[in-house]
Amino acid sequence: MTIRLARNSGFCFGVKRAINLAGEAAEKYPETVTLGPIIHNPQMVTNLESKGIMAIDSIDLIAGRPVIIRSHGIAKEKMRFLETLDVPLIDATCPYVSSSQLYATQLSQQGYPLIIIGNKDHPEVVALQSYVEENEVYIISSVAEIPRKKFTKLAVLCQTTQNVTTLQEIVYDLIPIAKELRVINTICTATTVRQQSTFQLAQESDVMIVIGGKNSSNTRMLYQICKKLVVTHLIETSDELECSWLSNKQNIGLTAGASTPDWIIVEVYNKITKCLGDKEEPIVNVESIPGYKEESNARQ
Ligand code: F3S
Repeated sequence: MTIRLARNSGFCFGVKRAINLAGEAAEKYPETVTLGPIIHNPQMVTNLESKGIMAIDSIDLIAGRPVIIRSHGIAKEKMRFLETLDVPLIDATCPYVSSSQLYATQLSQQGYPLIIIGNKDHPEVVALQSYVEENEVYIISSVAEIPRKKFTKLAVLCQTTQNVTTLQEIVYDLIPIAKELRVINTICTATTVRQQSTFQLAQESDVMIVIGGKNSSNTRMLYQICKKLVVTHLIETSDELECSWLSNKQNIGLTAGASTPDWIIVEVYNKITKCLGDKEEPIVNVESIPGYKEESNARQ
């Protein structure tokens, strides 16, 4: 019987950075707000609330408090408006997301119609779209949504948590309809390595447990990858894990999204060992889980 964690599971560089910036803000100010959840993990958002960092969903609710810009970024007009307010601004936008926004601005200034591959309702994509100037922009998530027309020139950007296979499929079908095609692969490295290591572990497992916010795009992507290969369950916390999922399974695989805190991964691991009748003391660090590999804090 094995229980293994996919390499590169849990917090990515951008999320660690956002949480650190929020922690510094909590020490400096008695109360701070984030426009929307700072990351897509409800348990972490609750944890931050206990430190005086409140998620609000409207600029009208700022009430003079310092504002943290979440890792997914916010729309350009909202950012410009916030800059006119007399409140401290802490920009925790992930540098990968800022980089996509810069590409959107530059490519639209160069006259490229744009295709953004992603979920049109996701805050990162909504924000990214706001950086496209007057140009045509299409937000699509599959080959079926490619516009049925010809382009003299066309540029492609992606939501940072997209799947590289989807990007490849869409680009393949765009080549015949665009005379000039510029593709910027804005999928972040943290996403790619999580998807690769999860794919590999899922191939070697009898069941996969994906841990992360159900509102987290990158977590849901890991779930999609696993469920094509093996029986897979998506949970936010250990309370949702059912021992019956593990019966007759020899190789249990765990993976976690880029916004899943270590403590939740540890709780799930301990619940699994309890389900399996292990009498050992529970572990306290994610480093104790076989397969864990620490990721560099440096931008990848
Ligand atoms: Fe940034 Fe990629 Fe994480 S975009 S927030 S490093 S998943």
